[in-house]
Amino acid sequence: MSNKLEGKIAIITGGASGIGEAAAHHFAAHGAQMIVIADIQDELGQKVVESIGSHKCSFMHCDITDEEQVKNSVQSTVQNYGRLDIKFSNAGIFSSSTQTVLELDLAVSTV
Ligand SMILES: NC(=O)c1ccc[n+]([C@@H]2O[C@H](COP(=O)([O-])OP(=O)(O)OC[C@H]3O[C@@H](n4cnc5c(N)ncnc54)[C@H](O)[C@@H]3O)[C@@H](O)[C@H]2O)c1
Repeated sequence: MSNKLEGKIAIITGGASGIGEAAAHHFAAHGAQMIVIADIQDELGQKVVESIGSHKCSFMHCDITDEEQVKNSVQSTVQNYGRLDIKFSNAGIFSSSTQTVLELDLAVSTV
């Protein structure tokens, strides 16, 4: 397995199960330094941490529908691990509003 993510600090939203969980294992296998699982499913999130190892993976309760929680997840990652290199916005939300990906990115980039 290559080390193309060596030293990287990553957040994966929705990383407690499904595609996000699989991504977390791939990030670890490719050498990521720390993978922060940001999800609403605390128990499953902790299980992912256990399976990868707490030296490489941590869990943070974060509901992506709440902008403050998203902002806090980024701020505390930077505070705890010095920076944020990768944010995999995997958790999807279905909304009847006309909000666009561009608006979501702008919201994240202002934190
Ligand atoms: N699986 C597919 O075939 C498929 C196809 C197209 C798009 N997608 C998209 O890919 C993403 C992941 O899909 P999946 O199949 O792994 O889904 P999944 O349901 O297996 O996992 C989603 C994860 O997101 C978490 N989550 C849900 N709401 C959340 C919230 N408000 N805040 C934080 N975390 C939240 C869940 O707890 C879960 O761990 C989703 O955005 C989905 O819409 C999936």
